[in-house]
Amino acid sequence: MMKEKTFIITGGNSGLGYQCAKNIALENDSNHVIIASRNEAKSAGAARKLVEETNNPHIRAFSLNLASLASIRDFCQAFADTPFPPLYGLVCNAIAGSHGKNEYTEDGFEMTFGVGHLGHFLLANILLTRMPDSGRIVFVSSDQHNPARWMYRISYTDALDLAFPKEYRHIKSYSGVKLCNIYCACEMAKRISAETSKNISVNAFNPAFMADTGLGKANSFAERMAKAIAPVLARMMGLHSSAGKSGKLLASLMTGEKYAGITGKYFDRDRECPSSELSCNTANAENLWKRSIELVGLQQNETLFTL
Ligand SMILES: NC(=O)c1ccc[n+]([C@@H]2O[C@H](COP(=O)([O-])OP(=O)(O)OC[C@H]3O[C@@H](n4cnc5c(N)ncnc54)[C@H](OP(=O)(O)O)[C@@H]3O)[C@@H](O)[C@H]2O)c1
Repeated sequence: MMKEKTFIITGGNSGLGYQCAKNIALENDSNHVIIASRNEAKSAGAARKLVEETNNPHIRAFSLNLASLASIRDFCQAFADTPFPPLYGLVCNAIAGSHGKNEYTEDGFEMTFGVGHLGHFLLANILLTRMPDSGRIVFVSSDQHNPARWMYRISYTDALDLAFPKEYRHIKSYSGVKLCNIYCACEMAKRISAETSKNISVNAFNPAFMADTGLGKANSFAERMAKAIAPVLARMMGLHSSAGKSGKLLASLMTGEKYAGITGKYFDRDRECPSSELSCNTANAENLWKRSIELVGLQQNETLFTL
């Protein structure tokens, strides 16, 4: 009999997250899947549909708003209070869409950074304290973290610039967050190896361009143009995928035997490869980690690592 395990997927009610949840659930009905999103009705509907599509009865929706530090802490408490098999996997997948202007989280951080990085930073730290000795965490990043691949400038000076930007540049914020997802994965992997004896792997994943998700709703002429051109460019650069294809690869990264023991790496779909030179800057990763601790007010009982 297979050992029962629990997997949490943020933003699991649509797009890549939904397909990842589906494939983890399909693999084995000893896999319990929690889709964690802010829209309770949409998530409950997605969970029901997943049960029908997979015949796995162990799929549930839990309310989680990554744009609220209080909601993240409430989610972790609700998870701890509910009997589930041991937590084995966490997929940090959710991202806030763009609405043509800077928006802010409940705690005053720029929305893309607040949801895509800070929210996941707090969530992953707290859930790590609840993971037994083995498990897997994946941060969903993007090829858009890579300055060599894109026409606009991507740089990193300090996390505070991303948390409190002076101007509106959604693409720049988005690329910055996808860079932070890699910094966070590498730094967390490093700290797990240095400070604990746990066999928990942490990696970053690029799903490639998926035209069939909710991401990239256009709000301006420039964004509409970018959306029209992106699939063509993505095909030319070999970066084209779909939520179904990449969701399956992401699920496999969470459960596949062939990935056992691999940590601190970047996967372009199913291929482990180097990420950009900028994303390997350890000083930036350390700056991000320290600033994130301050910004989310991380407490010692919320992390495995010494503060
Ligand atoms: N699409 C692409 O071409 C592409 C390429 C590279 C990387 N990615 C990455 O893939 C991941 C998934 O994106 P996707 O394309 O599947 O987009 P999507 O369909 O828009 O999914 C985003 C998910 O995040 C959730 N979410 C948004 N704000 C949230 C919040 N405050 N709290 C909790 N959940 C929240 C959304 O829930 P609601 O339903 O409530 O909005 C939705 O379930 C992202 O990390 C993205 O950066 C996508």
